[in-house]
Amino acid sequence: MRLDKTICESTTLTRSQAKKVISQGRITCDDKIIRSCAYKPKKNAQIFFDGKAISIRGPRYIMLNKPEHYICSNVDEQLPSLFNLIEADKKEQLFIAGRLDEDTTGLTLITDDGKWSHKITSPRNKCIKRYRVGLDAPISEDAIALFKTGVQLKSEPLPCLPAELEILSSTEVILSIAEGKYHQVKRMFAAVGNLVIELHREKIGDIELDSKLALGEWRYLTEKEISSIK
Ligand code: URA
Repeated sequence: MRLDKTICESTTLTRSQAKKVISQGRITCDDKIIRSCAYKPKKNAQIFFDGKAISIRGPRYIMLNKPEHYICSNVDEQLPSLFNLIEADKKEQLFIAGRLDEDTTGLTLITDDGKWSHKITSPRNKCIKRYRVGLDAPISEDAIALFKTGVQLKSEPLPCLPAELEILSSTEVILSIAEGKYHQVKRMFAAVGNLVIELHREKIGDIELDSKLALGEWRYLTEKEISSIK
């Protein structure tokens, strides 16, 4: 990672303040003054600011069990942002890897690592998201068949990719999808004449929502969870 970003992430300085102190020659990496913001310090480099060691913070990876009535936005709007639930500094650097609707609950991944987040959200990567879905009407055999081949959503040029459905009861199913189109789950069921009345995300890739987290609680991901996203 670039030196200016490293300094910004690991101190209270903003990115432009970090750039300034670097160009002023106040930053050393392994005993050498570095004036280039683009310089990439080695993994275990000893970095000092005005002679004081900086403890380097790596990227952050968080799972949150999102409750209803919080929005996946960095700022409060008509409803509070889910960042109100997290205690962390420099929250403005964090973003959500795969947003949920205001009334959807469950697994929400939050990070400041853009490349990692892209692996989750990029349609090319086909990262599977698993949802528990409560339905207004019993699911029909026709709907089950359509989910297998690919549901056609309104105003989309192509049908969805085949989705996996596990039927728990006539009105409760587990749906696994490889895409993340806007309101996708609700639109898929609307396309087969049904209505989603409850939606809860349980899993993203191999990362499962920790059953110890109550609604509104969060924790940092383990190394194993982080590296499971490929
Ligand atoms: N699909 C939806 O319709 N809503 C969500 O919150 C997530 C997936």
